[in-house]
Amino acid sequence: MSAQPLLEVRDLSKRFASRESRDASLWVIKDLSFSVRDGEFLTIIGPSGSGKTTLLNMIAQIDAASGGEVRFKSESAPINDPKSLNPGLSCRIGYVTQEDNLLPWRTTLQNVLFPLTVQGRLNDETRARAAELIRHVGLAGFENHYPHELSGGMRKRASLIRTLVYDPPVILMDEPFGALDAQTRAVLQEDLLRLWEMGRKTIVFVTHDIGEAIALGDRTLVLSRAPAKVAGEHQITIPRPRDIRGIMSHPDFGPLYQRIRAQVQ
Ligand SMILES: Nc1ncnc2c1ncn2[C@@H]1O[C@H](COP(=O)(O)OP(=O)(O)OP(=O)(O)O)[C@@H](O)[C@H]1O
Ligand SMILES: [Mg+2]
Repeated sequence: MSAQPLLEVRDLSKRFASRESRDASLWVIKDLSFSVRDGEFLTIIGPSGSGKTTLLNMIAQIDAASGGEVRFKSESAPINDPKSLNPGLSCRIGYVTQEDNLLPWRTTLQNVLFPLTVQGRLNDETRARAAELIRHVGLAGFENHYPHELSGGMRKRASLIRTLVYDPPVILMDEPFGALDAQTRAVLQEDLLRLWEMGRKTIVFVTHDIGEAIALGDRTLVLSRAPAKVAGEHQITIPRPRDIRGIMSHPDFGPLYQRIRAQVQ
């Protein structure tokens, strides 16, 4: 893991026009700064409406910023002008959104291969990688099922590997396991950590759940209510590989949980 940040968010701000008054505007994010190291698993926690999705949308360049910049490998991307946005930063930033967004008329395999098809990178090697990922997350045998024929957890797995398959160096994840039951969620968290240990991508993972932020992250940022600022930063000292289901009994878990909870308003 290099000390040089891979991703830097500097003085990032975002405001939306207010419905009530033409002149008024709502600052959702104001002068937000943080950086992410190459290979780091950063978790971000903040209350509902604190601007977490808005933040990821700006990093992924699907929404323009009102101020500030995002640097990737020290290169500044001009993200203040909607016309110059480069969504996904030329496939270098993968984004697992809050909804799974699988294409309903495509099978599991076709959905997983979709980014490779769009990028013109479908070949024997990438097909083999897709097949391996499908096996890894237990979707073997479901390649020809359509999304409506999959369970919620299976859809999430398909959505996750659809992003992993094209191997972006940075992956943004927006509460990907939020809507699942506790058991399925734990299985998917284990899957994700296993896949991350294999590839060591840089991950920015947004969640509401303090336990999840601790279980997965190298470091957790706490965001304040809008306008979002960094209210706290916590190194997660629990060694890896981690036992997700038994993590609450690790002696560092309780004190970390209490410190983070005191900052999440
Ligand atoms: N396109 C938009 N136009 C106007 N306001 C918006 C828009 N998108 C988001 N907002 C507002 O910005 C604020 C932050 O929204 P955002 O979706 O980023 O929150 P969040 O932290 O992701 O919440 P949650 O945890 O519920 O997903 C909210 O008050 C929301 O209403
Ligand atoms: Mg959100």
